[in-house]
Amino acid sequence: MGGFLRQDYDRIDNALYNAENDQWWQPDSGLYLLKTSINPVRVGYFKKQLFNELKIAPLGSVALEVGCGGGILCEEIARMGFDVTGIDPSAQSLNFAIKHAKTGGLQIKYEQGTGESLPFQDHTFDVVFCCDVLEHVHDLPQVISETSRVLKPGGVLCYDTINRTIISKLIAINIAQRWNRWAFMPPNLHVWEMFIKPDELKSLLQQYNLEWKEHRGTAPNLSYPKVLYYLRKRALGEMSYRDLGEKLLLVESEDMNIMYMGYAIKKQ
Ligand SMILES: C[S@@+](CC[C@H](N)C(=O)[O-])C[C@H]1O[C@@H](n2cnc3c(N)ncnc32)[C@H](O)[C@@H]1O
Repeated sequence: MGGFLRQDYDRIDNALYNAENDQWWQPDSGLYLLKTSINPVRVGYFKKQLFNELKIAPLGSVALEVGCGGGILCEEIARMGFDVTGIDPSAQSLNFAIKHAKTGGLQIKYEQGTGESLPFQDHTFDVVFCCDVLEHVHDLPQVISETSRVLKPGGVLCYDTINRTIISKLIAINIAQRWNRWAFMPPNLHVWEMFIKPDELKSLLQQYNLEWKEHRGTAPNLSYPKVLYYLRKRALGEMSYRDLGEKLLLVESEDMNIMYMGYAIKKQ
């Protein structure tokens, strides 16, 4: 484990998910990039693994999303055909999730809670999704332990997170959050020390009875000079988050230096 310290967790701004205004479903907001820039790659990857590789039938299967926020991924899980529950510590985010699902006529159950203490019985879910969340939690081993506990034997954990490398410090921290010339995220959205190396996650999964299967990188669809060009335009107000989300997408890649996704299977 990287083993971040209490003061690292104290720096991360998880309170930003408690905003009273809707930052999840407004096309010109930073969090909407989860839908436009990130959902296509992660949803595509998970569908490929769950349906093509593992032959899981979503109808009649129960899924959980841990750290669902405003429901941007939960809605895709519901569209896959799963009976889905989303859980998140933020009551405000959950309110936006509930409202949005209702407007779209989607059946999704939302509950307040944390990944460290899931309010579900052992062996409840066929699939657990935990995306863009593991780098936010204060007790990562406990979250992995809980996701393993609530999975049925043979159930699947699908996740993505951010790697702790020099390159992720440059791109995900300095460029994305710190350097005003390009920054498009709040300053403490992420804390570099809380990022997780793929091998650390792999051994944690194995420790908690989850058979690790695969990691795949995600990287921008554009060259880095082009990414910086668009981020600069956004910072200058010449481009909206909506426009940015149309141009800048993450795609599957061999490169795991910044973000990666993967899955693991609960042992019998
Ligand atoms: C970047 S958002 C990801 C939202 C959603 N998973 C997605 O990808 O669209 C991170 C979410 O993690 C939640 N979170 C923070 N700490 C958590 C914890 N200990 N357990 C579960 N969720 C947590 C936040 O409230 C926030 O909604």
